[in-house]
Amino acid sequence: MRSAFRSFSNAFNRQIRRSFSTATTGAAAALPKRSTFIAGTAFAVVTGAGAVIFTQKNRTAAMAEAKAGSTAAASDPISEATARAAAKLGLPPTPLTGSADLSSRVADGMVDMIGWTPLVELKSVSQATGCRIVAKCEFMNAGGSVKDRPAKFMIEAAEADGRLKPGSGIIIEGTGGNTGIGLALIARAKGYRCILTMPSNVSAEKIQTMKDFGAEVTVVPAVPYTDPNHFMHLARKLAESTPGAFFTNQFDNSANALAHYHTTGPEVARQVGGVDKIDALCVMAGTGGTISGLTNYFKERNAKFKSYLIDCHGSGYANYVLSNEFKSDGLSTVLEGVGISRKTANFELVKPLVDGVFWGSDREAIEMCYYLLKHEGLFVGPSAAMNVVGAVKLAKKLGPGHTILTVLCDGGDRY
Ligand SMILES: Cc1ncc(COP(=O)(O)O)c(C=O)c1O
Repeated sequence: MRSAFRSFSNAFNRQIRRSFSTATTGAAAALPKRSTFIAGTAFAVVTGAGAVIFTQKNRTAAMAEAKAGSTAAASDPISEATARAAAKLGLPPTPLTGSADLSSRVADGMVDMIGWTPLVELKSVSQATGCRIVAKCEFMNAGGSVKDRPAKFMIEAAEADGRLKPGSGIIIEGTGGNTGIGLALIARAKGYRCILTMPSNVSAEKIQTMKDFGAEVTVVPAVPYTDPNHFMHLARKLAESTPGAFFTNQFDNSANALAHYHTTGPEVARQVGGVDKIDALCVMAGTGGTISGLTNYFKERNAKFKSYLIDCHGSGYANYVLSNEFKSDGLSTVLEGVGISRKTANFELVKPLVDGVFWGSDREAIEMCYYLLKHEGLFVGPSAAMNVVGAVKLAKKLGPGHTILTVLCDGGDRY
């Protein structure tokens, strides 16, 4: 399946190129009380931007840079390897160095501010578990969530192959919120119309943010995926009947996973000093894009790397990994973005690579939200907290001395 991901990745890259030539409980409770912990967060420097590769102007510049061999790339083994792989495909290197470095240039608008988020060590959680728990601060993306990266990749891939016409195109998506915010922000910055359908159980704050960015939002009753009135089916139908519309389709569009494969993974590797510096990952899955992109990126480069999923009760992902049968009892969680009741193409790309699963409850996630607020000075949303619950469970399983990666998907002020 790793090769299946590769072929998805290669097909995606070819498409771009063509267009250019023409299970446990009580995780937070298990942590010691605050008094012995060190508080605070240490943010790394933000450098560069993810999907610069999809603009003609930057592509030409980056190719010239790759040919010349930039000084920064020469001293950075990760950049070198990435540049070599990209050059083979006729693509510019993932912009980890040189002109992409936001610490030494002015960002090229808000879309350029997606990616290169800090990686923070969660001090109190690390101290309590004996493992180094590092978390990618995705709430610091331009649109405030981990979904900004897929939004950017899906749009720029569609622009590159002509499915979306700059200036006049219409972006349509069904969304649980964060993807919609990313799409709405990018649509504003690039001059697109953006139409979003969403279920009524999404937070009012997210809906308002999308509207503030100018998106046309239709909130529909939350119904099972099998119902023709599910928000995703409504979005698809609307796109089919709207001239100039592009249905981004985050659940089954592999540009979603590829955003994390091409940007989040390489960024983390660079921030920790190499792909071998991370032992394992634990994250939840909504569309499956984050776990898929990160797992494929690290497993391709580090044979010892382990990938774990934390899922909520009622979701079908964990059982799918364990028994090969997708069976969902119906999602009853209040955690937005966590779990699902149907298979997705993005999760298919990672399923055979998942080494184990944990279950997390709503209570554990909410308790972790408050724990992180109190002991780390970190205000994150419930899916991010669920990820830290997963990291703690994984630390208990692996034992002290390991470095575990997780993701802080969005901020708590969004709920
Ligand atoms: C609140 C929230 N957290 C996290 C995620 C990321 O999960 P994934 O990359 O599996 O879609 C999502 C996406 O659906 C989300 O809405």
